[in-house]
Amino acid sequence: MRFIYTIPNFQNPGGITTSLEKRHQIYDLAKKYGVIILEDNPYGDLRVSGENVPAIKSFDTDGIVVYSGSFSKIISPGMRVGFTVAPKEIISKMTVAKQTQDVHTTMLTQLIVYNWLKDGKIDGHVEKIRAIYRRKLNLMCDMMDEYLLPYLDYHRPEGGLFVWAKLKDGINMLEFVKKASANGVSVVPGNAFLVDMSAPCDYIRLNFSTPSDEGIVEGIKLLAKTAEEMKGQ
Ligand SMILES: Cc1ncc(COP(=O)(O)O)c(C=O)c1O
Repeated sequence: MRFIYTIPNFQNPGGITTSLEKRHQIYDLAKKYGVIILEDNPYGDLRVSGENVPAIKSFDTDGIVVYSGSFSKIISPGMRVGFTVAPKEIISKMTVAKQTQDVHTTMLTQLIVYNWLKDGKIDGHVEKIRAIYRRKLNLMCDMMDEYLLPYLDYHRPEGGLFVWAKLKDGINMLEFVKKASANGVSVVPGNAFLVDMSAPCDYIRLNFSTPSDEGIVEGIKLLAKTAEEMKGQ
């Protein structure tokens, strides 16, 4: 089966959000060519600035969009419990496919999620973590603006958990990641997200949700130190 896979909110790894106009265009193309859209939205609740953009699923009058979400990004990273909204025929095929993979998702984590939803705790929790991530995202980006602009370009994302940045002036990305790690800070090499990991890539992905505020400040300074060291070579 052919389908279009898209992460319209705070795409991983790019952090980009697809505009409403483009969402409509994707929908029209899928309809025209008779393909399904898999709209993957694990980060949609983690918006820290800007306006919410309606999901493609919200204007799916033809039943061609499979929408999925996850509790891993809003309750706990290890949760690995998600949900899907899709036409019945697709859901029953997905159920069989999942059964062949792991029979079913662990009951314990499903029960935890159920209780979070049943008790109505989830909304307050999402508000709370959104405030924390807003602070951390802005702290990381403010630090990047202060220390890293000579070495990389990036767009401040409106949500999600990552900042995607392009190294400048031929700084060798894999070398940079290795030296940064030796200096005490980990970033994900951009080629980890490529189909062909050996293709040229100048990008790195930085995460702001896990480190403490002090860790973010220190980490960005260490990245600047790493880039400066490489420039001098
Ligand atoms: C775009 C995207 N979709 C889905 C997932 C998987 O989420 P889950 O933890 O529910 O398996 C991730 C996790 O990193 C992700 O980045």
